[in-house]
Amino acid sequence: MAYLQIGLLAPRLFVRKSLPGLVRLDVVEREKHEIKENEAEAGPSEVALAAERALRELAGTGGNAKLFLPPGAPCDNDIVLSVVLVEEDEWWIGYHLHSRYHRPWPGGVARIELPRAAPSRAYLKLLEGLSWPGLPIRKGETALELGSAPGGASFGLLERGLSVLGVDPADMSRAVLENPAFRHIRLQAKQLRMDEVGPVDWLFSDMNIAPDEALDAVEKLMAAPGGMDKGRLLGALLTLKLTNWKRSQDIPELVRKLLERILVIGFAHAQAAQLYYNRHEICVACFTPLGLERISKTLKPAPSARLHESVSKARKKKF
Ligand SMILES: C[S@@+](CC[C@H](N)C(=O)[O-])C[C@H]1O[C@@H](n2cnc3c(N)ncnc32)[C@H](O)[C@@H]1O
Repeated sequence: MAYLQIGLLAPRLFVRKSLPGLVRLDVVEREKHEIKENEAEAGPSEVALAAERALRELAGTGGNAKLFLPPGAPCDNDIVLSVVLVEEDEWWIGYHLHSRYHRPWPGGVARIELPRAAPSRAYLKLLEGLSWPGLPIRKGETALELGSAPGGASFGLLERGLSVLGVDPADMSRAVLENPAFRHIRLQAKQLRMDEVGPVDWLFSDMNIAPDEALDAVEKLMAAPGGMDKGRLLGALLTLKLTNWKRSQDIPELVRKLLERILVIGFAHAQAAQLYYNRHEICVACFTPLGLERISKTLKPAPSARLHESVSKARKKKF
């Protein structure tokens, strides 16, 4: 196979010289066409699987023994070597120190199965969004979801043992309404009052309105007497529709402004990504100081504290 004959040497040399310890290996073939909305998700390509097998075999021999960790999802602070098979004679190779803000799937291509009972594909967005920043939700906690109909995301949260309060003027599906841990408030988000809500651990939002309008609703709930920032809120996962752009070059600035506003609203940290299951929208993970505290307790110690620190500082500057 031409891919393998031409490309194999490069990662071997690169890895041996540059990387300490065992590394995770991600091999992915560049997608040759745009994935359509309802297209079945293809698994890793034959070429990617063959390249990964060959790299692992190579790593298991002679002086290269014990180079790669066994296949599996990366953990915080793992070093991940990514090999992207672009063309037969072109492989892109890079590595990163894994954190909750890197997608855990090779090439960022999430592979999540949609249960037959899930009311919508928003279930996929939710699960991808939970894994991307490693949102540390716990069974028994309470979630408020703005824009909850027909219920794919609520279904995913209920499945994980949370109680869910869904706010949407549209109908919810029976699959969630029949769950006693779900309550529907048939209102527009901006009409909601905090005394109808009570204490909330996590906020989710997925409304098909302009992003600033969605943030107006979040701001109002945060600022209200007994508002979320004064309670026990840990964080939020916001799907914001990118409605207001003409040129793709404008998007980074647009996203920067949205993130700035989220910090002003009262969150301590916010990070954006366009997830695999996002279309013309972005996913923003936001944490309160309480949420950041919980995250810091779940982190494995970094192999190099300085490297880790500079990564997070660079990110803060960027957004
Ligand atoms: C993409 S769908 C949400 C999908 C949903 N999260 C799920 O898991 O199935 C967008 C929803 O936003 C709701 N919506 C639009 N404007 C809203 C507003 N101002 N307040 C609350 N919901 C709103 C719509 O009724 C629609 O159900």
